[in-house]
Amino acid sequence: MSQTQELWWASESFWRKTAIWVTAGSFVVLIFLTFDTVDQITAGSKSERVKAYSVINNRIDYVFDEKRNFQVPVIGPEEPLFGKKLTEEEAMAMVSKGKLTTQAKNCMNCHTLLGNGAYYAPDLTKSWLDPMWGSKETREQTMVNFLINPQDHLYNALGRRMPNLGITEEEARATVAFLKWMSAIDTNGFPTNFKPIDQTDAPAPAAPVVEPVVEPMAEPAAPAQQ
Ligand code: HEC
Repeated sequence: MSQTQELWWASESFWRKTAIWVTAGSFVVLIFLTFDTVDQITAGSKSERVKAYSVINNRIDYVFDEKRNFQVPVIGPEEPLFGKKLTEEEAMAMVSKGKLTTQAKNCMNCHTLLGNGAYYAPDLTKSWLDPMWGSKETREQTMVNFLINPQDHLYNALGRRMPNLGITEEEARATVAFLKWMSAIDTNGFPTNFKPIDQTDAPAPAAPVVEPVVEPMAEPAAPAQQ
């Protein structure tokens, strides 16, 4: 009788073999992807997606790339953080301390880092490049001061202030190193349409050199009372 004749695609042995081959094939693909991912997320690896920690010795910019059709980090000339050039080991120690500080103080409870975290406060991926810090010359210290005493500032229209988290000066400096390093990570254009701080070198000033005066944000003048 034809009904008792087994069709090859309905046989148990065919599906058993298929299951074994698909599982084995997926296993090989997953091993390949694991190695590929490890390279993509390791600082200073071949893929260059995550830069070596000593990138904090250089200027980091965020520039539109025509070919990829989004902004990418561009590593510029030497511009050591806090004016001190570090070795890869020293830079790694500093960035690690900054990362540990962000974990210990749970910054992700309010902020996102690389898009992960909470949406109460701004994303910190490119915070190093935020024009809010004023000029590239004063930025480092402004950031340190902000992290130590954030409660005095109100930059956003939402009216939200960051609380004082009891961050020491050393932790604040390390956090700035962590934020600078993070801004150099190639995130496939995240965040989009981000306008970075102006980092072009000003033309050599004509003598005599006048120290720039940093004005506090001025209140608009009150209209004259009549
Ligand atoms: C309780 C919520 C909260 C926590 C926790 C918090 N922040 Fe904030 N943070 C804010 C808010 C709100 C602002 C916006 C303040 C402003 O605009 O004046 C802010 C702003 C900032 C900015 C400026 C961002 C920019 O570029 O505009 C930085 C940098 C920052 N925080 C870093 C940190 C770090 C680092 C930590 C952890 C050590 C942290 N924050 C923890 C709420 C928080």
